[in-house]
Amino acid sequence: MRLEDYQPYSFELESTDLTFDIRADHTDVESTTSFRRKNDEQNELELDGIDLELLSIAIDNRPLTSNEYSVDSTKLSIVDLPERFKLTIQTRIYPQANTALEGLYRSGDLYCTQCEAEGFRKITYYPDRPDVQSKFTTTLVADSGQFGVMLANGNLIRDEITSDNRRRVTWVDPFNKPSYLFALVAGNLAVLEDNFTTLSGRNIALRIYSEPHNIDACTHAMESLKRAMAWDESAFGREYDLDTFMIVAVEDFNMGAMENKGLNIFNTSCVLASPSTATDAAYLRVEGVVAHEYFHNWSGNRVTCRDWFQLSLKEGFTVFRDSEFSAAMNSRNVKRIQDVDVLRTAQFAEDASPLAHPVRPTSYIEISNFYTTTIYEKGAEVVRMLSTMLGQDNFRSATDLYFDRHDGGAATTEDFVVAMEDVSGVNLDRFRNWYSQAGTPVIEVEESRINDLITLHLKQSCPPSPNQPSKSTFHIPISIGLISIDGQDALGQAGAANGFDIHVHTDLNFENPNADGTLAFHFDCEETTITISGVPPKSVVSFLRGFSAPVNVTFPRSNTDLLHLATLDTDGFVRWDAAQKILGSTITTPASDTQFAKALLQKLSRSAVSAADDGETKALLASAMTLPSTLYVLDQNPGRDVIELDGGRDRLLSEMGIALEDSWEEIVNQNISDSPYHADGISIARRSLSHLAMDYLGAGLEKRGPGTAWDLYYDLYRRCDNLTDRLFAFSRLLRLEASLAEKKSVVIQDFHDRFNASALVTDKWFSVQAGCKVSGTLPRIVELATHPEFDLQNPNRARALLSTFATVNHREFHRSDGKSYTFLADQILKLDSLNPQLASRVCIPLTRWQRFDSGRQERMKDSLERIQRDCQSKDLREVTQKSLVA
Ligand code: PHE
Ligand code: ZN
Repeated sequence: MRLEDYQPYSFELESTDLTFDIRADHTDVESTTSFRRKNDEQNELELDGIDLELLSIAIDNRPLTSNEYSVDSTKLSIVDLPERFKLTIQTRIYPQANTALEGLYRSGDLYCTQCEAEGFRKITYYPDRPDVQSKFTTTLVADSGQFGVMLANGNLIRDEITSDNRRRVTWVDPFNKPSYLFALVAGNLAVLEDNFTTLSGRNIALRIYSEPHNIDACTHAMESLKRAMAWDESAFGREYDLDTFMIVAVEDFNMGAMENKGLNIFNTSCVLASPSTATDAAYLRVEGVVAHEYFHNWSGNRVTCRDWFQLSLKEGFTVFRDSEFSAAMNSRNVKRIQDVDVLRTAQFAEDASPLAHPVRPTSYIEISNFYTTTIYEKGAEVVRMLSTMLGQDNFRSATDLYFDRHDGGAATTEDFVVAMEDVSGVNLDRFRNWYSQAGTPVIEVEESRINDLITLHLKQSCPPSPNQPSKSTFHIPISIGLISIDGQDALGQAGAANGFDIHVHTDLNFENPNADGTLAFHFDCEETTITISGVPPKSVVSFLRGFSAPVNVTFPRSNTDLLHLATLDTDGFVRWDAAQKILGSTITTPASDTQFAKALLQKLSRSAVSAADDGETKALLASAMTLPSTLYVLDQNPGRDVIELDGGRDRLLSEMGIALEDSWEEIVNQNISDSPYHADGISIARRSLSHLAMDYLGAGLEKRGPGTAWDLYYDLYRRCDNLTDRLFAFSRLLRLEASLAEKKSVVIQDFHDRFNASALVTDKWFSVQAGCKVSGTLPRIVELATHPEFDLQNPNRARALLSTFATVNHREFHRSDGKSYTFLADQILKLDSLNPQLASRVCIPLTRWQRFDSGRQERMKDSLERIQRDCQSKDLREVTQKSLVA
């Protein structure tokens, strides 16, 4: 599929009427659609359809004979049509045999649908594209008594028992929508009910459905939903439009959740939360995903995408919106650091890989492969840059204009940018390169200093990516500050208020210094020089504040300057980033001098000990003291031995564990709590700080006497009342000395039995073992893959074992004999025949081979080649082909 081939559809749809007759071994679907031809020249109707049994087809109630239409494995076409006509099609489908979880499928005894991006064509023949919209009426028919709950989009208008003792319910959705937003659910579910009064005083009924035994775990999602509804009104002026809003939790789901109009369908992992079955991270994720799907009602549903090349129009924008929401509900700095961390580890890696693609791609083979971190997270960064460049008020006016202009329509990323330009008058020509060019730009900074004059030389470039050997200049917003020797902001109004008199000279446009001492420049040329005069001695430049653009920065600077920033900068991101740089360089230099890492951790851990009991302060300290992940370090040093780097990371942990033992102990004692679990900011921060300190402490103990950290972790494991602590302790126990094998197996059994009723906790049981980075664990992983509770058909379970193994367990996944790659490839091929979308996702770690040393590269490519040879799906074919080209 190519962007340049886009053609509008030649027909308009006035209405779509669907009836689903659900029987034990099949479901019959009857769809009646009213079409109107848009122009005289085009008189061929093309409908999409896959894996359908066609039972009948009629135009204006007249059945067609087989020579009046043609049908192949993906399309049905009819020629010589009147200007207006009603098309009725009956198809038969087999939801119980649908393991791809696309279209209508069964999850346990529950029937549900997943239609984005191209699942509707597995239900009936239809123009399955986002720019074709219509009003849907949906009728579900099943044996009466079979399902307590039968739902579809919109409002319920009829619910009756027919003469043949079947239940028949009809839902009408008054809004036009594309087929990918269609949904139905039929099952025996419990419901949690609440309501919300909108800004204009309308009362909305809110319902969350789950299996009865999980309904108590839905309250956090409900509270999150109400907060999201209120926030979207105040932050974006967006009100909800239907009378009911429903969420259904299902156990088998390929992704996190889906924004179907008025009837969101969620992976249980993004709805359920109770202290003993969800971690702190899960609580935050539920809040974020509930908000994300709700926000799609405007950014995605009311204004949808013209075609799937515009996917980031709804996803990037909506991720930006949910991230702003989470920042407002919790801590802005903490959320920013978490987002940047994800972006730099996952998205930068994608951007440097053969699967790199622009935020608006120009071609694809299988659209499901494009639900990527580039479309989502980089897309959100692009929207964030716009909001930074326009400023809050203009940005809000521009989003208002965008929603107004395109309400009820299907838009492009270009439409979004035009709305930004129209409101602000800022020229965004160069900015558009963020949508069309793949790859992470690099900014090289050179600083020189003569007396009170700082000269910053900036140069931008962007490495080549597939089909894009050279790049044009980007328009990059860059935020800069200056931190004086005693930690004061020295630039701008804040600088003046602090008694500094500093002048900045540049050819770039820049925003008036705002009160916090940050200058925002529009860096839209290849190279430039910024000079700052009147600089007081020993002040340090704070660069890319707030991570103002998704770029890699190379800025050679001394550890002394980094230490200054890490401890004194007023910008949370820069503080964290400077700390990561010091720690990262200590990890990569074998036998390095650990003096700066130690000085840094000493200062930070002391601050932690004396810190007020404040969530943001504690959370920021915890993240600054967390060693950078091995894969991020590897990405900064491609070609290095991953196991060596992982070992370097562990060594630094244990050395600092010993050197700063007293501080770690004190941090643990101060932050471990005996009061009942709460998922609020301060409690979460205390837990992450205490876990961090226990990591250092435990590593130190192990170094002195293998096995001696057992009690530290076991004590927590035994007495905690929540999954966050228990999971942490469980995973650390499993990493300890092999001689503890017997004790470990007791704990493994205990964890297993404790919450055996909860599928989500059982997922964790698999993932902790899969991620246990001890060499020689492959046989245990293989054993787990044949465990009775392992199920390749359940995406959460498959990911818990396979994706965790491949992304977390560097030690064993990257063993040098390549046996783990072979194991993963075997599993991927099995999965391919069941669920191609999932198979292709599980394959991603193998496609990141370029960052590894040459031996591992060869063995990873061997596995990719075998997958390419033996796979059935175009999902895997695209991913393996593209990743092997480079
Ligand atoms: N559109 C969903 C989201 O909110 C993601 C999704 C895509 C879900 C495809 C299912 C299938 O991000
Ligand atoms: Zn989304």
